[in-house]
Amino acid sequence: MEPYPIHIGPDALEALAAWLALRRPTGLLLLCDTETHRYCYPLAAPHLPPHQTVVIPAGEAHKTLATCGQVWAAMTAAELDRQALVLNLGGGVIGDLGGFAAGTYKRGIGFVQLPTTLLSQVDASVGGKLGVDFQGLKNHIGIFRNPEGVFMLPDFLRTLPQRELRSGFAEVIKHCLIADAEAWDRLQDFRPEPDTDWAPWIRHSVEVKSRIVAADPQERGLRKALNFGHTVGHAVESWFLDTPDPLTHGEAIAAGMCCEAWISAERGLIGAAELDAVTALLLRHYGKVPLDPGADAELWRRMRNDKKNTGGQVQAALLRGIGAAATGEPVTEAQALAALAWYRSLGK
Ligand SMILES: NC(=O)c1ccc[n+]([C@@H]2O[C@H](COP(=O)([O-])OP(=O)(O)OC[C@H]3O[C@@H](n4cnc5c(N)ncnc54)[C@H](O)[C@@H]3O)[C@@H](O)[C@H]2O)c1
Ligand SMILES: [Zn+2]
Repeated sequence: MEPYPIHIGPDALEALAAWLALRRPTGLLLLCDTETHRYCYPLAAPHLPPHQTVVIPAGEAHKTLATCGQVWAAMTAAELDRQALVLNLGGGVIGDLGGFAAGTYKRGIGFVQLPTTLLSQVDASVGGKLGVDFQGLKNHIGIFRNPEGVFMLPDFLRTLPQRELRSGFAEVIKHCLIADAEAWDRLQDFRPEPDTDWAPWIRHSVEVKSRIVAADPQERGLRKALNFGHTVGHAVESWFLDTPDPLTHGEAIAAGMCCEAWISAERGLIGAAELDAVTALLLRHYGKVPLDPGADAELWRRMRNDKKNTGGQVQAALLRGIGAAATGEPVTEAQALAALAWYRSLGK
């Protein structure tokens, strides 16, 4: 795939302005949601040439084809041609939806990601996966397509709610665990504070994810390492979606990483001391998710239906030591249920 610029730092918007001056799109449409319109657009707007702005309601509930239809309608009304450009200013919802809308309009026009959440900076804006939810199924309709550029301003994170920051931080932890033992060591004394400089961690995550994606863009093998924690984590996340207290993605994935680290230890892929270290760090940042034993059967059903499986077998990415992953590892029902029971017993 074509390389594209990824700019991370305090001058990201100046870099965007300079890049736009060279790119000279025939039309420019900026997509944001109500929150990023309020908090991020005022920072970005002074750096942008004339453009149209489309604001959609915030939240995953709006990551739908219906919203996408509104964006296509706005692009059509603005008479965007093939050389026009879409700027996606927002979190993963805006990036996935806006990228999908651009990547399908007139068989695909260019777009630029301006991620404003930690999750989208360290994960969603890299890797070319775009799409929308459909009939309750996450990212069910989508495409692979790279942006023309990604410009990340760490200062956007200053207005991000604490819980959203913590959610993105789980992917930072994941990237260390699957790819970089030294970074995992550095993570041990790291305590996120309101004035934390996230730039080094964003750079690290982007490096890890870009490296893995470059080696396997279509997720045929290696890229599956990025799913560590997500087999159990997605099941937990979707279970809590139907409760009065939904979890953030990162909270669910933190619980998933604990359980999948346990399965890794059970399979002899990591040692007991490594399991202890992983669990201690995750519990310190995320506490324990209250998993009702009554939900176990349903959680297993959801793991079985995971779109990452093939051949009717539940497959997970596990840890192979700290800093490496083992992909396509079959997980049995007994192992999954034992992992959940072990997780419940923690800290008692
Ligand atoms: N494409 C990929 O590879 C990939 C990877 C991971 C996640 N995702 C997708 O990303 C989405 C989740 O991303 P997310 O967590 O960024 O969600 P999000 O886009 O819904 O953002 C979370 C909330 O924060 C608000 N917000 C965003 N930036 C803000 C800021 N700077 N200040 C204040 N509020 C702000 C948003 O309006 C929203 O209410 C999911 O749909 C998921 O499927 C995609
Ligand atoms: Zn994730």
